[in-house]
Order: sequence, then C-alpha cells, then structure tokens
Amino acid sequence: TIPVIIDCDPGIDDVMALTLAFAHPELDIKLITTEPGNQTQEKTIHNALTFTSYMKKNIEIARGLDKPFFRKLEIADKVHGENGLGNVEFPEPTIQVSNRPAIEAMKETLLSSNEQIILIATGPLTNVGALLLAHPEVKSKIKYISYMGGAAVGGNMSPTAEFNVYVDPHAADIVFRSGIPIVMSGLDVTHKAYVTIEEINEMEAIGSDFASKVSQMLRFYIHSAKQTAFHAPNFENQIHLHDLCAVSYVLTPELFEGDNCHVAVELEGKYTAGTTIVDYAQQTGLPHNMKVLHTINREKFVEQFFHAVKQMSAD
Ligand code: BDR
Ligand code: CA
Repeated sequence: TIPVIIDCDPGIDDVMALTLAFAHPELDIKLITTEPGNQTQEKTIHNALTFTSYMKKNIEIARGLDKPFFRKLEIADKVHGENGLGNVEFPEPTIQVSNRPAIEAMKETLLSSNEQIILIATGPLTNVGALLLAHPEVKSKIKYISYMGGAAVGGNMSPTAEFNVYVDPHAADIVFRSGIPIVMSGLDVTHKAYVTIEEINEMEAIGSDFASKVSQMLRFYIHSAKQTAFHAPNFENQIHLHDLCAVSYVLTPELFEGDNCHVAVELEGKYTAGTTIVDYAQQTGLPHNMKVLHTINREKFVEQFFHAVKQMSAD
C-alpha cells in the first residue's frame, strides 16, 4: 500500500478526489485535513466529515487553520455553492472531528511513520505551509507532494493566478521553497482533465444514490462555471476535475507527462499576486523544485473516475 495524507478544502472536485482515493484500497489514507478555500473552515471540515461518513470510511479527519497566512480569506462560494458541495446534501456525519488539530496530527503521523508518506494537497496549502514552518523535521518523511494548484499560463482567479495559490500565496511560497519534491497539477493539465455533460449523464445512469449525487454536483459545477469567469472560456458543456489529477497522479503517473523546472510565486503585485512563475524555458537558471504536469491521457483518466464512482456505489 501507498501511505498518504490528504489536505483539502472540499469543494466539489475535492470530494471527487476523495472518491478516487477511497475507491483504491492500495492507498492507505492515514489522515485527512481541511482548510478554508472553496468555503470557510467551518464548512470544509463539515463536508469532509459528512462525505467520508457517507462513503463509510473510517479515517481520522482533523481541522486545520481558519485563515490564510496574511491575505484576507476569499472563498469560491459562487463556484462551489453555499454549502461548498453544489448544495447537494449529505446526511449528518457519523465520524467525529479529531481531537488533534491538523498541524499536530500531520506532524505526529509523519514522524511516527516508518515509511515516507505522500502528501496529496488539493487546497491553498495553508496547513502544509504552517506544518513546514513549525516542524521542519517532518520534511524527510514526505516522499513528495502531489499538489493541485498554479498554472504556467493563465489563471482562473485573475488573468494569471490560479485559485489555490491566489488564496494563500505565502503558504505556497514556503512549500515551493521547502526542498520537498513536488508534482504540480496546475491548470495547464487540469483544464485537459474534464468530463463532458454526456459522460455525466452516463454516470448518472449507474443508478445509485451516490452516482446521482455526483452528477448533481457536477451539473452545479458546470452551471456555476458558466456564471463566473472561473473556468476556461470554451467550457460550455464540460467541467474540469482539477483536484482529481493530484490523486490520479499518485495512482497512475503513467497517465501524465510533465517537465522538471523552477517555479516561484508572486506574493505581491497589482495584477499578479498569487501567480506561479513556471520557468519551463530555464531562463532564471534557478534549480528545479518541481515537476510541472502539462499532458494527460483524458480517456483513461475519465475511465478511472467512472470506475471509482461505480465502485463506491456498490459498497
Ligand atoms: C482549484 O480551486 C478550487 O476551487 C478547486 O477545488 C481546485 O482545488 C482549481 O483552481
Ligand atoms: Ca480544492
């Protein structure tokens, strides 16, 4: 099995990412931590608890920090809805929130593990940044960070900044400069990781309560994408499953291609705060700190997602 910790801000695509992880027993999920981003901490922790309970998984879920390092919190309620999950309701959780705060739970999980752990991060990196600042001794226990965030070209929160980095650029900066290997699934690859409305209809036809909830959430996501400038301009009847890429890469890296390069974060800037500066062309001469993905086998990726929804419908 592959030991992982998942740090997230659920979020429609975050729970789709959890679905993919839950459907693969070869992933040993040691801990789930939440942070604000798509919604407030109050709501993201609630969503992690309800969703994981609904999926009948018994995993420790710990509450992370309440706000970004310095910036005022900006949430994506227009994209993910008032409850953060496209206003699709799940029953009250049966799992209790952990009595360990996220940073402590992450630290203890990492330090007590005999093997290195992969950190899957699908939110603004506030928790991971704080962890590395407070407990740098955990670094050697992290095999790599599979991270959804950033973009080489074009943003979704501003013309150049991707949402997760935009929300907490200072946290991202700490993580990017930590020396830990990072695989970045930025918009360059996640915009190619989409499902179409026809595929969503097919999924709904699985006929389970879960498949119907998944398709409701994705329909909401398509609709909200049309109302906001959050998604790629030509996305009329399809929707990107950003956060799934970070889980999919851990399971099946052969579905992706990327290049090693240096990535920096713009912390300030009238127009550019939260922009990732991806030096594909090696112009800065700075050492490579990341593998930046740009290509995905969409067909296999969608198959993998379908399989996960089917699998979790049966359980
Ligand atoms: C990222 O922003 C969030 O809205 C999604 O969950 C994803 O993590 C995409 O930019
Ligand atoms: Ca997310």
